[in-house]
Amino acid sequence: MAVLPIRVFPDPILKKKAAPVEGASPGVSAFVDDLVDTMRNAPGGVGIAAPQVGVPWRIVAVDVSAHRRGSREPNHGLLVLMNPEILAMGGQQVVREGCMSVPEFTANVRRAEWVLVDALDRDGVRTVIEAVGFEAVAIQHEMDHLDGLLFLDRVASVKNDLFRRRKPRQAP
Ligand code: NI
Repeated sequence: MAVLPIRVFPDPILKKKAAPVEGASPGVSAFVDDLVDTMRNAPGGVGIAAPQVGVPWRIVAVDVSAHRRGSREPNHGLLVLMNPEILAMGGQQVVREGCMSVPEFTANVRRAEWVLVDALDRDGVRTVIEAVGFEAVAIQHEMDHLDGLLFLDRVASVKNDLFRRRKPRQAP
């Protein structure tokens, strides 16, 4: 197990587009283990993207099953998505989001209510998953990281929708 250091805004890697991975390999697999360990080590962490630990690969991990809201909705438990693409999305919801890479703020962000995602799983097997509610939010948030986008980039009104945390989130 290895917990990796988190890159924090305005680290330039957070603004870069990440590159596709070839598929499963021992190197990718070991990295995915570390990525998941890093997510689990973060208090309240429900997702992480490879660029957040300084690795420019299109890999995200999500697990909302222990989250207050996520646990009450249908969810997949731990999801590892490599080279994820959104095939379809619909509905809308506004959810308060935070991010390990933006420890001092939260924001209300508008997201799709459901997403259909095509990806490789951690074994490199192609998979299509449908996610709804909070899990769909987490997937959209983490996939944004692969394109160099932070939730800050999705805030409609900095004045009304951006909030400073009273206590900055602890980076792992
Ligand atoms: Ni994030």
